[in-house]
Amino acid sequence: MGKLLAVALVGIAAALVAERLMAFRNKLNASREIAPVTLPNCRLIKGIEAGSEDIEILPNGLAFISSGLKYPVLKTPEPDKPGAIFLMDLNEDHPKAVELRISRGFDLASFVPHGISTYVDRDDTVYLFVVNHPHQKSTVELFKFVEEDSALVHVKTIRHDLLTSVNDIVAVGPDSFYATNDHYFSDSILMFLEMLLGLTWSNVVYYSPKEVKEVAAGFYSANGINISPDRKYIYVADVFDHNIHVMEKHANWSLTHVKTLQLDTMVDNLSIDPHTGDVWLGCHPDGMKLLYNDPENPPGSEVLRVQNILSEEPVVTRVYSDDGSVLQGTSVASIYEGKLLIGTVFHRALYCEL
Ligand SMILES: *[C@@H]1O[C@H](CO)[C@@H](O)[C@H](O)[C@H]1NC(C)=O
Ligand SMILES: *[C@@H]1O[C@H](CO)[C@@H](O)[C@H](O)[C@H]1NC(C)=O
Ligand SMILES: *[C@@H]1O[C@H](CO)[C@@H](O)[C@H](O)[C@H]1NC(C)=O
Repeated sequence: MGKLLAVALVGIAAALVAERLMAFRNKLNASREIAPVTLPNCRLIKGIEAGSEDIEILPNGLAFISSGLKYPVLKTPEPDKPGAIFLMDLNEDHPKAVELRISRGFDLASFVPHGISTYVDRDDTVYLFVVNHPHQKSTVELFKFVEEDSALVHVKTIRHDLLTSVNDIVAVGPDSFYATNDHYFSDSILMFLEMLLGLTWSNVVYYSPKEVKEVAAGFYSANGINISPDRKYIYVADVFDHNIHVMEKHANWSLTHVKTLQLDTMVDNLSIDPHTGDVWLGCHPDGMKLLYNDPENPPGSEVLRVQNILSEEPVVTRVYSDDGSVLQGTSVASIYEGKLLIGTVFHRALYCEL
């Protein structure tokens, strides 16, 4: 009887694991094939080889690019090289990426930049918020951008018990922001289990020096976060649920759910066209390939544009897609006056004129 029970339990456990693995494969959209969509005027950006995970463009056309992410379970091309922030002036005829100098006193050796966000203050000071993972922890670094010196001056490091596994941020003031925690756990084994079990413990946190609170919860993995041009709505991408949540922002900074736009792909980071309000999405066509990252069968890239997201019938267009022969593992797409920058988790970055 004991043996039978043991066999039955092992059988049940195996079935559960198999079921979870299937569900996980489905969440990763494993083996999804998409037709290529090419753009005529694109080139790879020189000097960016180790990822270009997040891109933020100022209203004047200066683009910040974060590079050198080292994320648990994902490949790292240059594990010993600290991360960097590049700047590109999209007003130039042939924009180049220049690495920004970072002021002394900041620990560059452990710099692992992830999501970034900018805030332009009333006196025109430009603040750059950078999610950092020094020693596998999560902090938000606040920098002041000094254009004359092509430099970032470190202002402060923000840490908080609610900022545990931060992925992306959107600044809403000179020292306040919304942040996504992409997992509940920050340990890589527990994080993997959390994904495998399909727990919806990922959340969105509001941070200011006076108040820190959870403002949305119940995501599989909240990833990119951004704000509408009128600053009334917050958009959150859930990479494992293949959708975007539109939330209304209130005066007390709480968020309420307005709608969910279901997509058929793993949405990573999102950016907003300040003129049209269009939402541009960097997506992973097949998350399994991203995890394996086999050079013979590399992860592909996909860029979607969503028009009229608040309307009854948003229009979703696949603007770019590639099987990985040009660009691998897109994480973000940002637009400025007909110029599109496409970033990746650990590969290169593409500049296109539309
Ligand atoms: C991608 O994943 C979604 C959600 O699991 C699923 O509905 C959709 O059919 C998948 N698409 C493909 C082509 O695998
Ligand atoms: C953007 O993409 C990367 C790549 O997956 C992802 O790890 C990160 O979660 C996303 N968020 C931001 C802002 O970079
Ligand atoms: C915040 O404001 C919203 C909308 O006005 C309201 O429904 C909610 O109860 C407020 N939350 C708190 C914690 O005061």
